[in-house]
Amino acid sequence: MAEKKIQKIEDLPGIGPTTAEKLREAGYTTIESIAVASPAELMEVAGLGEGTAIKVINAARDALEMSWMSAKELMEKRTIVGRITTGSRALDELIGGGVETQAITEFYGKFGSGKTQICHQLAVNVQLPMDKGGLDGNALYIDTENTFRPERAVQMAKAVGLDPEKALEHIYVARAYNSDHQMVLVEKAREIIEEKNIKLIVVDSLTAHFRAEYVGRGALAERQQKLNRHIHALQKLADTYNLAVVVTNQVMAKPDMFFGDPTEPVGGHVLGHAATYRIYLRKGKGDKRIARLVDSPHLPEGEAVFRITMNGIEDE
Ligand SMILES: Nc1ncnc2c1ncn2[C@@H]1O[C@H](COP(=O)(O)OP(=O)(O)O)[C@@H](O)[C@H]1O
Ligand SMILES: [Mg+2]
Repeated sequence: MAEKKIQKIEDLPGIGPTTAEKLREAGYTTIESIAVASPAELMEVAGLGEGTAIKVINAARDALEMSWMSAKELMEKRTIVGRITTGSRALDELIGGGVETQAITEFYGKFGSGKTQICHQLAVNVQLPMDKGGLDGNALYIDTENTFRPERAVQMAKAVGLDPEKALEHIYVARAYNSDHQMVLVEKAREIIEEKNIKLIVVDSLTAHFRAEYVGRGALAERQQKLNRHIHALQKLADTYNLAVVVTNQVMAKPDMFFGDPTEPVGGHVLGHAATYRIYLRKGKGDKRIARLVDSPHLPEGEAVFRITMNGIEDE
C-alpha cells in the first residue's frame, strides 16, 4: 500500500484547512518550516495541542526523507560547487577560492568593516562568466538596513567590465521591513530563483531585525528559534539550487559589553554553527581591511588583507 505523498502542509496528519491557514499566516508555508519548528511555536501560532504539535513535526521530518548520503555521493555533489570571486585574490584564497555555492558564508565585523561593500561586489561579480570568477548568474539581495546603493554597484560593474545598466537589472533587491518579512522573502524565493537564474542570495544584515525585535532574556529562545528556521531555509535554497548564500552580522562596537571574546558575533552560537564559512572583518590602515577565517571545517585558519577602493574590493 503506497503512502500518500506529503507535499503541502495540509497533507500532514492533524492539519486541517483552518490550521493550515493559521500556519501559513505565521510564515510556516513549507514542510521544511514545520520540520524545524518547536512544538511550542506551533501550539502558539495554530492553537494545536502539544501531542498534535509533536505528531505534526515528526510527520514533517519523516516526509523530508532526511537521509544518509554516501561519501561518494557527497563528493559528486561537491564537484558541482561553484565559486564567486570577491575581487581580491588574497581574500578568495583565504576562503578556498571564492564564495561557494551550496554553502552559507557569513561576514561579520563592526560597523564600517566592509560587510556591505563585499555584498555589493559579490552581487556584481556573480554575473561574470565562469572564467572571470563569476557564475553567469544573477543576484537576489535582501536589504534589511537600507544600505544597498545602485550607484555603488554601477562603480563596481564598470570596474569589472560589465555593462552597468545590465548589471543593475540583474540584481533583484528587496527591502525587508522586519524579521517576519525577511523570513517570508526567503521562503517565497523559489519562483524568482528559478525564473531569474539566481546564483547568489545576499542577506545584509541577517541579524539586525532579529536583534532589534527580540530583546531581553525572555525573547532570546524565540529569537534563536526563528533565526534557526531562517538559516535552515537559506541552506535549503543553497543546496537545492546550487547557489551561494552570503549573510552579514554586525558585532558591537563596544567590546567591553562582553565578558568573553569581543569578536563574538551577536546572534551567537546558532549562527556560528549554521554558517559554513565565517569571516571576521576588521579595519586596517586607510582603505585596508583584514579578513580572518574562523572555524572552517576544512580550511586552515588565516588572515588576508584587501582594500576597499572606488573600484570595489581589491588586493592590497
Ligand atoms: N565609493 C567608495 N569608494 C571607496 N571606499 C568606499 C566607497 N564606498 C564605501 N567605501 C568604504 O567602505 C566603508 C563602508 O563599509 P561597509 O561595507 O558599508 O561597512 P559595514 O561593515 O558596516 O557594512 C566606508 O567606510 C568606506 O571606507
Ligand atoms: Mg553594512
